[in-house]
Amino acid sequence: MNSQSNNPSKHKPKFFLTTPLYYVNAEPHIGSAYTNIAADAICRFQRLAGSEVCMLTGVDEHGGKIEKTATDRGITPQAHCDEITEKFVELWEKFNIKYDKFSRTSSEKHNKVVEHFFERVKAKGDIYQAEYKGLYCLACEDFKNERELLGGGLCPVHHTKVQEYSETNYFFALSKYSDKLIQFFKDHPDFIQPKYRLHEIQTWIDEGLKDFPISRRSVNWGVGIPKSLEETGALQTIYVWFDALLGYITPLIKDTDKNNTEITKEIFDKLPEFWPPSIHVIGKDILRFHAVYWIAMLMSAELPLPKKLFGHGFLTKDGEKMGKTRGNIIVPAELLDKFGLDAVRFYFLFNIPFGSDGDYSEQIFIETVNAYLANRLGNLFSRVLKLCFNNFDGKIPENIILDSGSAIAKQSIELPSKVKAHMDNFEIHLAIGVIFDLIDKLNLNLTEIKPWTLYKDENPASTEASHRAATECLLETLESLRIIANLLEPFIPNMSEKMLSVFGLKNTQCWAELNHWNYLYKNFNEHLKGQTLQDPGILFSRIQ
Ligand code: MSP
Repeated sequence: MNSQSNNPSKHKPKFFLTTPLYYVNAEPHIGSAYTNIAADAICRFQRLAGSEVCMLTGVDEHGGKIEKTATDRGITPQAHCDEITEKFVELWEKFNIKYDKFSRTSSEKHNKVVEHFFERVKAKGDIYQAEYKGLYCLACEDFKNERELLGGGLCPVHHTKVQEYSETNYFFALSKYSDKLIQFFKDHPDFIQPKYRLHEIQTWIDEGLKDFPISRRSVNWGVGIPKSLEETGALQTIYVWFDALLGYITPLIKDTDKNNTEITKEIFDKLPEFWPPSIHVIGKDILRFHAVYWIAMLMSAELPLPKKLFGHGFLTKDGEKMGKTRGNIIVPAELLDKFGLDAVRFYFLFNIPFGSDGDYSEQIFIETVNAYLANRLGNLFSRVLKLCFNNFDGKIPENIILDSGSAIAKQSIELPSKVKAHMDNFEIHLAIGVIFDLIDKLNLNLTEIKPWTLYKDENPASTEASHRAATECLLETLESLRIIANLLEPFIPNMSEKMLSVFGLKNTQCWAELNHWNYLYKNFNEHLKGQTLQDPGILFSRIQ
């Protein structure tokens, strides 16, 4: 009993999630924090539900954009990357993001992985030299067509001027994979999530895929093309996206020797444990790179393909796009310092259906977290505990076995599988929603039964039955709250931890025993003999 979760087991299903590797041209913004909060919630849930999870996040450090930022700052690109990467690591710590692997594309191992992959694809006959003449947006690190630009030659995403350049580069034969890609999306209609984003990709493929350059002469900060291809005096670095996408593989490769991990053909012939990803979680703006470039690259290298891609929406502030010039940027660490971890995680996970665009407004933020975390959940918990301490000294009575057929028992017992069904579909806000349906029901039940009044019944003919009914109501609520506390861990880990501590649990319970009814009775009376419920203090302080 009370087996604290996550005993390593050989037969656990594997779940591998990646977040985007964030550009380090600037410090992390709320968009990056949003993705990682959602990714962390998904991974925590899968761990709770019994999977062996690997969550990978990291940084994308190469390319012209970062080279320029470092030059403008008068420092080396590596020094700049080290500094900004540290900020990402600190922020993930603050947000309590439990990642397993951190990918840095400037690492030596990654450089070797990219070089090796380039050679593998070249050996397949999918890389050739040609002249590129076209347009490029440095902010997107992407090639542009004349017809997609705004007036004045501006990039439609960043509203900055695109550059024209012409160079002899190495190209990747993307067009060769058109038919294979079309077939792949036909065979895997659920590959892109939410499903409505598939249309954008299909249209793009239908318009005709063009081979694209995967090396640059004018960019120095990147992985050099393999030595065997270098012409004297004509150094080229590998295109930043061709490099960065491989950052999803690098940290999985075990280090044979700290500084000198050999990247061999065998490693790629049989990629390490966890490959391929169960899901790449990304923003909708970079879906194309993942759904088309990346899949074609993997097809070319004959490597197993990821199982799913999830393109989430964009955040706005008070209905407006966030931007430095507008001065309406949300700084994630400041938000956290002001409102605390659980409030911030809860708002973004619950208030914005995962996949849709969403807005941040301070007023709605405060209203939401006060209504849900302080009123519905916090008050319920402290009210019930107070009654338990006042009426049975916080000890779980030895003479009451709860009926597992009551409406509340049934809803509580079914809750884990309902939450799981939503989380398996990445419907994070719906998963939280069904948990709060039960919380609402518990509140309603208390108001109807009024245990505080029943305890005051002094009529000798009914007092025993009244007290018993009151205690049953409290125990039933506690039993449900134990299940709820476990299920809330992926979303609001701090509150969940406090709630679990009430029941003497230091960690989430194992999935199989989560919905055991009368768990508290058994645990406190048979295992923790005599121990009382613990007072957690204030669960969540109302934001004024
Ligand atoms: N470096 C590439 C990803 C390479 S993955 C191999 C990149 N980096 S990024 O830093 O520009 O963006 C990282 C993620 O942040 C993207 O998924 C992007 O969608 C997301 N967001 C950027 N601004 C955002 C919002 N305003 N709202 C939500 N997410 C946003 O692209």
